[in-house]
Amino acid sequence: MGDEPPSERNPQRTWGGRFGTKPAELMTRINASIGFDKRLWREDIAASRAHAAMLRDQGIIAEADAAAVLEGLDQIVAEYERDGVPEQLELEDIHMTVEHRLGELIGPAAGRLHTARSRNDQVATDFRLWVRNACEEAIDAIRALQRALVERAEKHAETVMPGFTHLQVAQPVTLGHHLMAYYEMLRRDVSRFTDARARMNECPLGSAALAGTGFPIDRQATADALGFERPTANSLDSVSDRDFALDYLSAAAQCGLHLSRLAEELIIWASAPFGFVKLSDQFSTGSSIMPQKRNPDGAELVRGHSGRIIGALTALMVTMKGLPLAYSKDMQDDKEPVFEARDLLILSLEALAGMVETVDFEAERMRAAAAQGYSTATDLADWLVREADVPFREAHHITGRAVKAAEEHNCDLADLPLDALQAIDQRLDERVFDVLSIDASVRSRTSYGGTAPERVREQIAAAKEALGL
Ligand code: ARG
Repeated sequence: MGDEPPSERNPQRTWGGRFGTKPAELMTRINASIGFDKRLWREDIAASRAHAAMLRDQGIIAEADAAAVLEGLDQIVAEYERDGVPEQLELEDIHMTVEHRLGELIGPAAGRLHTARSRNDQVATDFRLWVRNACEEAIDAIRALQRALVERAEKHAETVMPGFTHLQVAQPVTLGHHLMAYYEMLRRDVSRFTDARARMNECPLGSAALAGTGFPIDRQATADALGFERPTANSLDSVSDRDFALDYLSAAAQCGLHLSRLAEELIIWASAPFGFVKLSDQFSTGSSIMPQKRNPDGAELVRGHSGRIIGALTALMVTMKGLPLAYSKDMQDDKEPVFEARDLLILSLEALAGMVETVDFEAERMRAAAAQGYSTATDLADWLVREADVPFREAHHITGRAVKAAEEHNCDLADLPLDALQAIDQRLDERVFDVLSIDASVRSRTSYGGTAPERVREQIAAAKEALGL
């Protein structure tokens, strides 16, 4: 559908000229996107301003018309800021809503704004501007959560907790180390949003409906005015590309996945059998029937919301995958998944930061749990390798027998009598007890990236510098 001027018959519709009757009420309803794309109003007006100024500078429209357009657009900004965006289904979308209002305000000069432009390049430009800003917003919110994690990690650089594999106690680690693992995931998320932002920073405006335009437009000028690196290179691609939205959504989906994992750990840790954390009153809810309950609803909703963010990525991929070049109206469905994902992501990041800031860590419970499950067995095996030159595989086997002995004695490895150990292997002597405590185990893990408090402090120092703390 082209964008013809308003007709006498159907003055509200910018494209009504070639039609005999008005569309069915149902057609109007299925066609309209104003209910959601009104969120693009600032971007739409910014892009129109850039376009109008370029048309004027290129001598395509008269100075006076351009001045009227720019003034009218200013007035619309003031109106929308004050009263919100009116939703009139017959005007379909935000682009026609703005243009229609401009016509009411300045008369026929408003009709000049759409010279050398189509809603196809217009929506591609508006949406890119919006998503570009959403990348920045996501980065800011991720950084706030990272700050919360780093601050708590610093306080707990030496707090010992069980490290798990298969959710079985594996080796002791520090809580600081565990929290900093999430810092790292989020660091990659920042990097993904940064990449996505850089990749999308090309301006489709001036691609017109699909083929470009014969008017002597200056695409670099509009790109510059809107803060883009450069104009997009191919007009067909420009109006049919939604990779920028998919890039945003995949970064959001992966970030949501990370948030869900952290939320899941808080949920497990808050359960009575674990008792590693107590979520603050601010981030807990009660049960309407069980008075004793303190539920981690916030964390559960972060976990739940991540499913919807991942769903948004899937939705848009499936929408896009079968579309021929160039624009198809299916693409109007690009916005709601992105808007929803953005809202859920920001809310989840903020809520999780609040939880991390206010949660109580039960260091004693963590410590007690770390001592269980023969978590220092690897330290015993490593001792045999280091002190008695036993090959690791053999040391592993000897340690397995020590674990069995401890099970039979119903005690921890560190509490086994020396003669019980020596009955298993003569090369074990009393010095081995130095490595069997959980503190010694944690202190010994000094390899780069390891859990030793000194290494964790280095990670934290680097993180603080990166965050400007
Ligand atoms: N509301 C439309 C969208 O969001 C704008 C583009 C419409 N273009 C068209 N030729 N009908 O995709």
